[in-house]
Amino acid sequence: MAIVERFGRAVSTRCRKFRWIAVNETSCTRSSGGKRGNAWLGILAGMMGSCGMVLYFLDESSVKAFGELEISLPKYPWAFNGVFKSFDHAALRRGWLIYRTVCHTCHSLQFVRFSHLIDVTHTIEEVQDGPDDKGNYYTRPGKLSDFVPSPYPNEEAARAANFGAYPPDLTYMILTRKRGLDYVFSLLTGWMDPPAGIAMPNDQYFNAYFSGGFTTMPRTFYDGMVEYDDDTPATESQMAKDVVEFLMWTASCEHDERKIMTLKCLGIFLILILSVGHVNRRNWSHMRSRCIAYVPQSVTRDPRLAEAPSLVQRSARECKRSSTTTTTTTTGGGTPSIR
Ligand code: HEC
Repeated sequence: MAIVERFGRAVSTRCRKFRWIAVNETSCTRSSGGKRGNAWLGILAGMMGSCGMVLYFLDESSVKAFGELEISLPKYPWAFNGVFKSFDHAALRRGWLIYRTVCHTCHSLQFVRFSHLIDVTHTIEEVQDGPDDKGNYYTRPGKLSDFVPSPYPNEEAARAANFGAYPPDLTYMILTRKRGLDYVFSLLTGWMDPPAGIAMPNDQYFNAYFSGGFTTMPRTFYDGMVEYDDDTPATESQMAKDVVEFLMWTASCEHDERKIMTLKCLGIFLILILSVGHVNRRNWSHMRSRCIAYVPQSVTRDPRLAEAPSLVQRSARECKRSSTTTTTTTTGGGTPSIR
């Protein structure tokens, strides 16, 4: 309550001061010419503001709308996008399975090591060498520190196998496209017949969400094409959602840690701000709320002026009234007395 009162008093004092300055200035300088100038300035500011608003809301999609035909991306509610939300690791595991069985035929994931998958999609036992169920020791073909091998030895080989188109690396794909999550999900579920009257080029497929409509990437998903080990029904949209979540993880694997660290930092920051504010108030409040009233020596020392003591008291009272907790009264150059 005390803080609110204090704040209110501060605001009203500022307002009073401002009004005083404004009244004084206008009474001195205002003329009819000045008024007209101010009106023009207001109109100019208004015009600039509205132009800014129009430019702000005119993004590139509205510019494109005149030239080429473009479908707008739907907005999907990604569960891990909330402030307190993390990746669903079961979905990441399913996403890896989809990448491994479907996308890996054409796309590389060249910045992900097998060791990155430990405790994210797989347990350490699932990826390291060791004896199998019958006790026979086996070694895996790769080491844990290896990058996920690419399907083609180089870009030329990839192009040769895909009618000249290069299937890009998928590690950072979600971040390299605008609204990547929604885009890749829509792309993976967006194959359809081309609109009537549009001829389909050879070795190309129509996808409404691919820029230009035609792509060399064939339709990838059919209901039930993989079998999840957690018995989730493998529908087309389920597979697309899982692989997109997995690709989001490959693009920003620090996602969960980043959120936890941000929350921790905010908590620490809040505690610091509160304690610094408290210490600042405790150390300086007596200085900020002190009021020094000056009563000239001629008044206090002059025996003829009978009202002198009452004058000192009055100024002290006035100080107190205007938000003081401590009052210092300087009487005629002597040491200030604090009440
Ligand atoms: C048969 C090969 C093949 C498979 C399988 C395949 N892709 Fe592709 N993909 C391509 C080719 C080729 C391109 C380049 C398309 C083009 O430029 O016309 C491409 C492009 C892409 C793009 C980039 C689109 C863009 O905006 O440039 C994404 C994203 C993508 N694929 C995701 C996937 C995912 C996810 C999977 C697995 C579910 C997958 N692809 C499976 C061949 C494939």
